[in-house]
Amino acid sequence: MNESIFQPFCLAKMKIVSISMPLLTIFIIQIVLLPISHCRADLIDQTCKQTPNYNLCVSSLKPNPRSSAANVKGLATIMVEVLTSKANDTLNEIWAQLLRQEDPAVRNCYDHYGYMVAAFIPEIYGDLTSRGFGGRFVRYNPAQAERRLHDDIIRRVDHCRHGFGKGRRSPFAKEIKATREAAVVAAAIVRILI
Ligand SMILES: *[C@@H]1O[C@H](CO)[C@@H](O)[C@H](O)[C@H]1NC(C)=O
Repeated sequence: MNESIFQPFCLAKMKIVSISMPLLTIFIIQIVLLPISHCRADLIDQTCKQTPNYNLCVSSLKPNPRSSAANVKGLATIMVEVLTSKANDTLNEIWAQLLRQEDPAVRNCYDHYGYMVAAFIPEIYGDLTSRGFGGRFVRYNPAQAERRLHDDIIRRVDHCRHGFGKGRRSPFAKEIKATREAAVVAAAIVRILI
């Protein structure tokens, strides 16, 4: 999808331009004067408005220095990085828990999060780029990235959580929630690219 549709303000100017030369001059001056960051800040805002968790989206993207120059694809990649970090935090927490006490539900979570961090999330990065990856060539495929976020991440996060059954709160519920929320936002941003 063309990123420019998220910059209606910038695009509107481009339409006026085709009318006449004086207007073209004004347009060029405006382009020079208009801080690029204005459109870019708008892009984060416009993108995050299309996710179910605006606040998490903005607070995840804004602190990253790359986000100010990123297009929607770049923003999606940054959000997947945030997801990686949350999933890894969860995995570390699960591991610490397992060291204290062996438990089938915790072990189940360890397996799910282990696969996510080691295999599934790297594949999502692959879907968002077109490059050599793990000895093979992968093609840009945002639809597949979205599918993986749902099937390989969100579904496994829920699987882990449900493993504790009713009435038993998982010992790392906070980390699980953070991972799930990051995955939902990442999936919504990736969806814009389809
Ligand atoms: C996950 O956390 C461990 C322990 O802090 C760290 O060594 C590892 O590099 C992290 N992995 C990723 C993918 O962030």
